[in-house]
Amino acid sequence: MIKAASRTRNFTYAIRNIVAEAKKLEREGREVIYLNIGDPVLYGFNTPPHVVQALERALRDGRNGYAPSTGILEAREAVARESISRGINISADDVVITSGASEAVDIVLSALLEPGDEVLAPTPGYPLYTAVVSKLGSQERTYRLDPTNNWEPSVEDIRAAITPRTRAIVIINPNNPTGAVYSRKKLLEVLAVAEEAGLVVLADEVYWRLTYEQQAPPIASLVDDRVPVITFESLSKIYLAPGWRLGWMKLSNSHLMGDLKTGINKLADARLCSPGPAQYAVAAALEGDHSYLEDVMRRFRDRRDLTHQRINAIKGMNCSLPGGAFYVMAQIERLDGATDEEFVLSLLRETGILFVHGSGFGMNKADGYFRIVYLPEPEVLNLVFDRVQKFAEAWRPSARATLKR
Ligand SMILES: Cc1ncc(COP(=O)(O)O)c(C=O)c1O
Repeated sequence: MIKAASRTRNFTYAIRNIVAEAKKLEREGREVIYLNIGDPVLYGFNTPPHVVQALERALRDGRNGYAPSTGILEAREAVARESISRGINISADDVVITSGASEAVDIVLSALLEPGDEVLAPTPGYPLYTAVVSKLGSQERTYRLDPTNNWEPSVEDIRAAITPRTRAIVIINPNNPTGAVYSRKKLLEVLAVAEEAGLVVLADEVYWRLTYEQQAPPIASLVDDRVPVITFESLSKIYLAPGWRLGWMKLSNSHLMGDLKTGINKLADARLCSPGPAQYAVAAALEGDHSYLEDVMRRFRDRRDLTHQRINAIKGMNCSLPGGAFYVMAQIERLDGATDEEFVLSLLRETGILFVHGSGFGMNKADGYFRIVYLPEPEVLNLVFDRVQKFAEAWRPSARATLKR
């Protein structure tokens, strides 16, 4: 037996782990409706043709070799131009192209953290941060997103969680798993705390164009020259190409990051480069036609409204109206002693519908939260909520017995 390193024991990845249970059901011949993963392509949303064509062209033109480790200049310049047009003061030299935003997060945290250092991340939160911080032997400290206040972060909580070992604050806007979009005022408060404590702000903005009523301002556009900000973006969500694994980081106020930037570049060198051909689609995506998003956002909005309305119509369930992305964090108010995971697994067994339990995002397992990905067609969502309603209204401690049998 080969023993795995202890660093792999400390984290789980609920969004994918829970699928094992669903697969078991499928092997028993049952049909499962997957509402656990934020991949719009699975639900019929397609990468815009002009972006696909740019990738095709790159492949045919023989752009199949290694790219420079920080990415091709054409892509980095396109990212910088788009950033400048949104009030972010960076140059192509401050951009590193990565294998999705995920790799950017991994590289930055690896370049930043010593074992025992701390990162402040939101709860509920996207589990990538927990996973990488844990892998590095560093500590995640959490600040709370308030469900009674549209899942806004509490700046008092952030301030209270800072210790001498804290190095960075993660802010995810629009947010996964809550779908919340933060106001400019809230972002300015976060920047003020970062400045006070001398921290780097890690801004995860992979959903920035996917908002409904109110836009999500880039936090790096609100910064003066005193707070270092690293922003993560990608082609995954906005350009509907998660499988291409193409993203980037943008270093704002890189003059405050001399050594960190060197560290990031060394780690980027060591993994050679991110997927080369897809880098040729970055300029086409960022500077091409965005009208496809009107239809996409209309369809997302209908599904969001339907989900919000149907959940709140179920006795004993509630959710707030998310301002962006494609997630709702719902709550079953009475778990009758069960955990949120037991509720989700029991729901899966009874109804064939797969959500992710809130404790997979760091929520208290007794609080009854679960995340819904509302990407399927309205007819499917209606069927889902018919079944959820029936299940929730019959939910008793005895319902748990189904799971244990
Ligand atoms: C908040 C957040 N950040 C990062 C990612 C990862 O994005 P990418 O596909 O660019 O690695 C996701 C994916 O779901 C996400 O929700």
